[in-house]
Amino acid sequence: MRYSDEIIEEVRDRTDIVDLISGYVKLQRKGSSFFGLCPFHNEKTGSFSVSPNKQMYYCFGCGAGGNAYTFLMQYENYSFQEAIQFLADRAGIRLPEEDHSKEAKERADRRAVLLQIQKETAEYYVHKLLSPAGTAALQYLHSRDLTDLTIRRFGLGYSDKYSNDLYRYLKEKQYADEILRDSGLFHYDEKHGFSDKFWNRVMFPIMDANSRVIGFGGRVMGDAKPKYLNSPETVIFDKSRNLYGLHVARRTKERQMIICEGYMDVIAMHQAGFTNAVASLGTALTEQQCSLLARFTKEVLVIYDMDDAGIRAARRGIPLLKNAGISARVVDLRPHKDPDEFIRAEGKEAFQERLDKAENGFLFLVRLDERDYDLEDPGGKTAFLHHLAGMLLEIPDEIERSTYLDTCARLYRTDPEMIRKEVGRRSLQGTGRRIPDTPRSLRLRRDPADRRQTDKGQKLMLTWLVNYPELIHTLSDVLRPEDFTNPLCREVAEKLWKQAGNGGINPAAILDMFPDEEDQAEVASMFHTELKFEKSGDKKIAFFDVLCRMKREGLELRSAALDPADLNGFTALAEERRKLEAMQRSGPPADWFPEGAEEKM
Ligand code: GTP
Ligand code: MN
Repeated sequence: MRYSDEIIEEVRDRTDIVDLISGYVKLQRKGSSFFGLCPFHNEKTGSFSVSPNKQMYYCFGCGAGGNAYTFLMQYENYSFQEAIQFLADRAGIRLPEEDHSKEAKERADRRAVLLQIQKETAEYYVHKLLSPAGTAALQYLHSRDLTDLTIRRFGLGYSDKYSNDLYRYLKEKQYADEILRDSGLFHYDEKHGFSDKFWNRVMFPIMDANSRVIGFGGRVMGDAKPKYLNSPETVIFDKSRNLYGLHVARRTKERQMIICEGYMDVIAMHQAGFTNAVASLGTALTEQQCSLLARFTKEVLVIYDMDDAGIRAARRGIPLLKNAGISARVVDLRPHKDPDEFIRAEGKEAFQERLDKAENGFLFLVRLDERDYDLEDPGGKTAFLHHLAGMLLEIPDEIERSTYLDTCARLYRTDPEMIRKEVGRRSLQGTGRRIPDTPRSLRLRRDPADRRQTDKGQKLMLTWLVNYPELIHTLSDVLRPEDFTNPLCREVAEKLWKQAGNGGINPAAILDMFPDEEDQAEVASMFHTELKFEKSGDKKIAFFDVLCRMKREGLELRSAALDPADLNGFTALAEERRKLEAMQRSGPPADWFPEGAEEKM
């Protein structure tokens, strides 16, 4: 359902963003803002700011930013729908229900009930594990070296030997067949009715990033097949968007995350102190999982079995991670099969050594492909070097590409300049495979230094105007939204001017006018662009410089676009240029910046 702008605004107005975010991040007041450790990337210094005046947050480290809605959508993975519902409940506001909202509400209720069912089921399995019926299961887990603490921490359980044990339990709790059918916990057919999907297995509850149980994996306690049985996808269980163990790993203090294949591997690693381990859920790593990871880390250690399937998974996974802005390194555990076995056999120190020795993802891929060529044969080697040039071409960052190029040339005893020429030739011809576009947010986040001076000036201007909106009125003869040449800045300026004319600016509301999450972060950065100034008075001078520069660039653009026959246009431009020069000569009028204005900006 689409909510009206008024209700979206009301719910936001009744939410104090500092109060909201304090529930997730420890914040400390510094000047007019609050600061803390950014929940969207790993950091040791607090670059994450929350501004009560703007009702926005912004991270000076990673560029994440937005208002109360954006925060919940980024942090809790909520949809806008869920975010507004959450904030409305919190503020005690009843959201209007329209005709089709009934459906939406039913859907939301259904999700809630399905989550409740998973939760009660998890508790039931735990209860079973600790009951006499669970003795063998508990023994099995102990035999795999898991401690009671670990078992509790991961909520491990046991599904009993009866075929409708869980069903009867949940029926007693008054759940309707109709919803139990969609829980993924049962087999159902007309003739036999319901039977439990999991029986006589040790159970691994699967949690989403917010610690809500969304499904299960169950393992046999011996060698029977299938070894693992997993919940099917349901309304609340989307395997491509979740990672096993992330609810714990997200709080790790490590810079990297470890991604592996199995439940047992994650648990064994956590028990050994590697609390940054997660696993994909029995499927190949997906794009969504990568962007989920990108919220928490910029570097991932990949551990797959070194068999064909594992290598295929790594080959697919590394570029996916890369596209999400994560660099991957590959851990080799040979001769052991997986982290669980490795740690049992060699201990955690040896495991740490293997992590330290992890191979760069790109070089790993190069070495894999190398096997397809006979490097002893000149023809084979030539073909391989051509292939290598193609791979290098796919690295968008030039410096990075050049570094790898040199490394590979050394590795394969070849003249780097020759490969460099080949790469250059291909890039001109466009014969490389298509270079995947880096998402815009990453481009922006990655090299802030790259952004052009102009954009920086216009963003600074927007920040100053938002901090000290009186300027919009004071400058009404001098500065207009058209003076912003950056399209997004211009759009934001137009909205700002409109608000200023209608009783006051509201930066957090401007964010809601941009549905795209990346635009929102970008707009948030426009309201948080700052420069350090040595002494008072400097900010005024900078402001004036930026203003003159904007005017000058605007005039240049207009003059370039002018039809040479347009004499009136020429006269008007000349007049404006004269005004600008006069303004530059006389400096900023004193009444622009009354006492205390500079501190507010
Ligand atoms: P353990 O034998 O308990 O140590 O498991 P493992 O994690 O070493 O198992 P393996 O490497 O064989 O499998 C890794 C992951 O693949 C498991 O955690 C499961 O998610 C999945 N998996 C393994 N076997 C099966 C199976 O028979 N069926 C399904 N659906 N998934 C499986
Ligand atoms: Mn294993």
